[in-house]
Amino acid sequence: MTTILGIETSCDETAVAIVNDQRICSSVVASQIDLHKRYGGVVPEEASRQHLLTINPCIEESLQLAKLSWNDIDGIAATVAPGLIGALMVGETAAKSLAMIHQKPFLGIHHLEGHIYATYLSEPDWKPPFLCLLVSGGHTSLIHVKDCGIYEQLGTTRDDAAGEAFDKVARLLNLGYPGGPIIDKLATQGNPKRFLLPEGKVSLPQGGYHPYDSSFSGLKTAVLRLVEKLKQENTEPLPITDLAASFQATVARSLTKKTITCALDHNISHIAVGGGVAANSGLRHHLQEAAKKHNLTVHFPPLKLCTDNAAMIACAACDHLKRGHISSWNLGVQSRLPITEVMTLY
Ligand code: KG4
Ligand code: ZN
Repeated sequence: MTTILGIETSCDETAVAIVNDQRICSSVVASQIDLHKRYGGVVPEEASRQHLLTINPCIEESLQLAKLSWNDIDGIAATVAPGLIGALMVGETAAKSLAMIHQKPFLGIHHLEGHIYATYLSEPDWKPPFLCLLVSGGHTSLIHVKDCGIYEQLGTTRDDAAGEAFDKVARLLNLGYPGGPIIDKLATQGNPKRFLLPEGKVSLPQGGYHPYDSSFSGLKTAVLRLVEKLKQENTEPLPITDLAASFQATVARSLTKKTITCALDHNISHIAVGGGVAANSGLRHHLQEAAKKHNLTVHFPPLKLCTDNAAMIACAACDHLKRGHISSWNLGVQSRLPITEVMTLY
């Protein structure tokens, strides 16, 4: 049994959790959404400052909730890439300092690997190999999970990430931040077939389309043009629920097609979904239906494990520590790092 205290500060959530293998002993998430709402998106400097204020109380609270002391902790982990540099540094510095003081190993964790481990927390018998569709505010990736630290990226986004597209479309419809949950709620009341929108295919130089890569910036522009056209035609009030439903269905259809094609082409029968957009009801419905048709298994973690949290970071660290993977004290933070390079962290 391995017990890890994990810290996640890569974006706008200060999160600390204690995990014992795949069991969550405590998980604290202090969201900064209210702080960034007024700017319509995350302001990096504000995020770092807020992490600094919140990190120590979150660490205290995680130990208290788990009813554990530092003697019970085998290692201390923090997200070190990818993310906002200043924000990552707060978590990394806190984890390293605690590891030095309490003489524990320090592990730097890749944020996307954390999202993959959310599946193991909610489905303890789940084992590699499987395909992970990772859809968050910063990423849209199809990852072939082969083992701890061994990943192959089969698909990615060429421009906006899926969550970013939800946030940008919500902003142009004046719906607020973050856009995903608001659009999701409105979409349930609208007609997804009212507006035909482009799915965003990625052309290949030799002709045809990339089977697994996504592009959402064209879709976002199509929504913008449609809204301008509706306004010119004096369609007031704007049919917000139909726009939300049509946009959401287009994203869900596009992600579902790419995920199923990728799984079938690579003979992978299990699919796990992670990241904030995994909470989307349209995606959950479309992907589950399509997977059933093709005899594939799909797992969506519970909503609180889909969005950013530190339990997923601590769970990944438990697996790495068991295999003897420990980070050097010289390890820094990186704003970008492909998931295929996870093992450079140890
Ligand atoms: O994984 P996450 O919490 O943070 C990142 O690592 O980016 O994902 C946040 C993203 C935001 O863009 C948010 O709008 C989106 O996930 N999101 C959703 C839903 N809930 C959160 N998108 C669509 N539908 C949802 N229900
Ligand atoms: Zn994330």
